Amino acid sequence: MLLPVIMAGGTGSRLWPLSRELMPKQFLKLCGDTTMLQATVQRLQGLEFETPLVICNEEHRFIAAEQLRQIDRLNHNIILEPVGRNTAPAIALAALTAIRQGQDPLLLVLAADHVIQDSETFHQAIAKATTLAQADQLVTFGIVPTAAETGYGYIRRGVATSPTDQAFSVAEFVEKPGLTTAQQYLESGEYYWNSGMFMFKASVYLAELKQFRPEILAACEAAISNVEPDLDFIRVDKEAFSACVADSIDYAVMEKTTKAVVVPMAAGWSDVGSWSSLWEISSKDQAHNVHLGQVFQHNSQHNYVYAETGIVATVGLQNTVVIQTKDAVLVAAKDKVQDVKNIVQQLKAAG
Ligand code: GDD
Ligand code: MG
Repeated sequence: MLLPVIMAGGTGSRLWPLSRELMPKQFLKLCGDTTMLQATVQRLQGLEFETPLVICNEEHRFIAAEQLRQIDRLNHNIILEPVGRNTAPAIALAALTAIRQGQDPLLLVLAADHVIQDSETFHQAIAKATTLAQADQLVTFGIVPTAAETGYGYIRRGVATSPTDQAFSVAEFVEKPGLTTAQQYLESGEYYWNSGMFMFKASVYLAELKQFRPEILAACEAAISNVEPDLDFIRVDKEAFSACVADSIDYAVMEKTTKAVVVPMAAGWSDVGSWSSLWEISSKDQAHNVHLGQVFQHNSQHNYVYAETGIVATVGLQNTVVIQTKDAVLVAAKDKVQDVKNIVQQLKAAG
């Protein structure tokens, strides 16, 4: 039994000003005609799976439900987090919900905001992961790195799980190393990027969490034990969940467990984390510009320009991101767009 667990509670702050608190990137149509959440569900078509379980912030419940309805996914379950506590608790809530229903499914944990161009290859990787997860392993999907990215987790590949298998034990899992370390990892050729997608039995994840972070498990158990069922959503007790420590699955479990295995995957995966990664995967004109809306450019190359209302024009501009929405304009050097999140922090501080 394969249960897709779709994590949709992030804020997507590096994609400001398009991604906002009220409408973060997983609910936006950033690539193509469907939103990133919708694409995440649609990409599963062709696999056999249980009713998907989406987990997001309470504030976004109607957006999430409506977007699932739009793609005819009338059967869905949505867990609502009253506050964000990062992915380790979010996945614990999903696992506990399944166990409470008397089941111990394989959880296919997906981020709601990734692009995967080749669904066929993705499905093959899932098939391989299924066998390993059934044998009580915690599977991560590994991507061959192409740059010394510091926003990703790195996995050092160990021995092959079987002579014929394209899957490996995890010799080391390092979440978001510094730049120098990331460069060494890239040059060594021994590392994969952690894609942020996982597969394991609900019970196996909970047992690992209990071993490494018992306080997170206890807080999540308390948060779902006393809540009355609701017709439309699975709710979580606010006080109990607020008391939970925030941590990601990567730090809380994956860096510590001895049961991790990696399934390499070359499926055109991209974490659309920033404007530059969106530029990378979008179709470009001859001058390597991406433009959306009424955009005019002269003697300008390698830009990402988005005009939501009115006209945006550039002259003699290179490697720049210009995002114009109805109430904000961002102009940023394309190689510095990771820092857009600092602007969001400044805006928050300014109220
Ligand atoms: N429900 C819920 N609640 N979802 C969350 C929360 C939360 O509190 N926090 C984050 N998410 C969702 C995000 O929406 C995203 O889909 C996913 O969980 C991963 O969170 P990110 O915040 O985007 O993580 P990251 O990109 O910094 O790092 C992770 O992904 C990288 C690849 O994209 C890690 O797993 C890295 O190791 C990995 O390389
Ligand atoms: Mg991410």
